[in-house]
Amino acid sequence: MNFNITQTDLSHYLLDKQGSIILAVTGKDDIQAQCSQSKEVDEFVSRLIEQKDVTSKVGSTSVIPMPSGSRLIMVGFGEHPVKPSNFIKALNAAALALKTSPATTAAFDLKSITVEGKENTWMAQQTAQAFATAPYDIAHCKSKKEETSLAIESLTILADESLEKDVIYGQSVANGITLAKTLADLPPNIVTPSYLAKKAQRIAKEHPAFTTTIIDEEEMEELGMGSFLSVSKGSIEAGKLICMEYRGGKSDEAPHVFVGKGITFDSGGISLKPGAGMDEMKYDMGGAASVLGAAQSIAEINLPINFVAVIAAAENMPSGNASKPGDIVTAMNGTTIEILNTDAEGRLVLCDALTYAINTYKPASIVDIATLTGACLMALGSVNSGLMTEDETMAADLLLASEQASDAVWRLPLQDEYQELLDSNFADIANIGGRLAGATTAACFLSRFTKGTPWAHLDVAGTAWNSGGKNKGATGRPVPLLLSYLKAKV
Ligand code: BES
Ligand code: MN
Ligand code: ZN
Repeated sequence: MNFNITQTDLSHYLLDKQGSIILAVTGKDDIQAQCSQSKEVDEFVSRLIEQKDVTSKVGSTSVIPMPSGSRLIMVGFGEHPVKPSNFIKALNAAALALKTSPATTAAFDLKSITVEGKENTWMAQQTAQAFATAPYDIAHCKSKKEETSLAIESLTILADESLEKDVIYGQSVANGITLAKTLADLPPNIVTPSYLAKKAQRIAKEHPAFTTTIIDEEEMEELGMGSFLSVSKGSIEAGKLICMEYRGGKSDEAPHVFVGKGITFDSGGISLKPGAGMDEMKYDMGGAASVLGAAQSIAEINLPINFVAVIAAAENMPSGNASKPGDIVTAMNGTTIEILNTDAEGRLVLCDALTYAINTYKPASIVDIATLTGACLMALGSVNSGLMTEDETMAADLLLASEQASDAVWRLPLQDEYQELLDSNFADIANIGGRLAGATTAACFLSRFTKGTPWAHLDVAGTAWNSGGKNKGATGRPVPLLLSYLKAKV
């Protein structure tokens, strides 16, 4: 999909049979919609508003065919100035309306709207992001494609030309989201740890700024990754530790590292999960998917930083080879771990990935992204990702990135007082902390492997995908947050 930025008026779009104009309807008692710059159209639109044929209700859309052959897409943006969340909701509704319309081009006057507390750079970015993510089709595996999923070929944005860079950035965020969604929505018999490794190599081939290292189980054995291997050994699918090094910054600058949880299916292992909804545990690689998505986008926009993507990829299955509750394993950093529940497997693969990443890359900062706990989902629902860190700079950077990307996070506690919940009679540490503060005890576990390095943990159990029913599907979160975090490091 193409984006153009222009300052010229949009009226000629009304003559284009393939075209459409998106008109923002705003206001409460004084509803308005303007920008066509054609007197005739403005009068027609005023009548539609007067007759209440169109409203400013956020996300409401009406597609109105015009005698000239094109169409008006009237979209409710709510009260003016528009709230950031309403702006995004309305854009997504507009993009969806265009998906089912025969129009192949659209024009949108960004100057007709003001968004509360946001610059027009943010608006341009979000516009590109919304329209560039809209064509995503979840039906990767349906034998027949639906015919209605037409997307527009180009969007013309009426705005200052200096916003082009923001449009390009928004598009690259969308590409990262789309990759993350695709990987997460594909079924777990296709997306295995080996598949993720191949995908990483394919991305690296397209973008020579990457150097990829795939660590297999034999090498993990040599490195002493007893914790990671205790998870992958239960499956016939071999575990992989995938590292993608991106050198865009100065050669002597320490890299920023993202570590993604890549459990391509989480059955729970011997501590087997209940059957209902277990299919959704294919999304347990959502963290990994977002890291790969972010990595691809960074290369696309040639971000001048040093960055490493690390993916801890494994399948968690019950079998004669699987770990049992009570087993004690030794992690790469020498910590002994009593596995009291084989379903707390994410932390077991992540701890060795963190040790490896810190030893190998000496990061300036390290963030892990993981669908780690049902407890985080219970606490925050699907609105916020959980953020846990003891490093105030990391917290501030991630909260700011979250705000700028409109990809919400909420900070949850991580204090030493919680650490004792992980005490074990038989090993240095247990892999679960009991019923209380589940998101925090999982983070406490990881914190034991990150001492001395600025580290933050993002629990995306509630945000990486939408659960159940017709809504079921990956969200691509927190790709926008991750990119915004790295962009601020330039
Ligand atoms: N992948 C799950 C967490 C999860 C559950 C994410 C549901 C999203 C929805 C993780 O591996 C897990 O099973 N965690 C356990 C930990 C418990 C055994 C301490 C959980 O949250 O129940
Ligand atoms: Mn689990
Ligand atoms: Zn899991």
